Amino acid sequence: MPLVKLSDLVTKSDHTYAVGAFNVSDMEMAMGAIKAAEEMNAPLILQVAEGRLRYSPLDLLGPVMIAAAKRCTVPTAVHLDHGSEMETIRLALDLGFTSVMFDGSKYPLDENIARTREVVKLAKSYGADVEAEIGRVGGVEGDYKSVDILVTSVEEARQFAEESGVDALAVAIGTAHGNYKEQPVLRIDRLKEIAAAVKTPLVLHGGTGLTNEDFRACIANGIQKINIATASYDASANRIRKVAAENPQARYFEFSEAIVEGTYENVKKHMEIFGMKDKA
Ligand code: 13P
Repeated sequence: MPLVKLSDLVTKSDHTYAVGAFNVSDMEMAMGAIKAAEEMNAPLILQVAEGRLRYSPLDLLGPVMIAAAKRCTVPTAVHLDHGSEMETIRLALDLGFTSVMFDGSKYPLDENIARTREVVKLAKSYGADVEAEIGRVGGVEGDYKSVDILVTSVEEARQFAEESGVDALAVAIGTAHGNYKEQPVLRIDRLKEIAAAVKTPLVLHGGTGLTNEDFRACIANGIQKINIATASYDASANRIRKVAAENPQARYFEFSEAIVEGTYENVKKHMEIFGMKDKA
């Protein structure tokens, strides 16, 4: 199955399901995600965040992700998550990533738009798609620094979508990256208003720890891509701990299998919640 673009997958979502985008940091996590997608006959977005690249350099991990997507039997997109440096974005595009996210959410609106337009121009020259963020999702993908949530305004979302030309737009409606200390109350009212005002497919970041009801409400009210990272890392780490506790003589390969299986279980669980079965 060919490597596909983000837009090929998210524009098909008709508000009865959303496409899960799953962060990976090594070959084992990519294998686990692919196993889940093939079993579910579901489309897949494999992504890695710039903030994680100190553990998994992009020039090493990127080719693994591309190769994994190419051998997958269901349509798979390969995406750079939370890119902020042009150097990282350019490298991802050179490696064949089919989309990149430019996260300019820390900049004032005009500057975010201007910088995003530069990324769109570059990505289009590679035939790739771009996701950007408006408002601010809490936490920081990669090191869990606390960042205040800034709920996206309808007017800013409309202006940003029109002027930036992005293919997917991440909105802040009360979620945060990492595990929640308190269950968040999502601004579904705001999401609904944004979805009515903006045609660009909308993205939900900070998926880990939301309830099934939260996910369903987000999908029904306009979210077409949902990012899941922490839950896969935790599921894999928990599996490793279990193997080590149950078998002190466990070999390296039992641990690497634990990563594949931990990611597989978590990705499959979220694909079921997102309604992705047979949407490939
Ligand atoms: P979580 O780590 O909360 O699942 O967030 C994932 C994410 O939004 C990646 O961009």
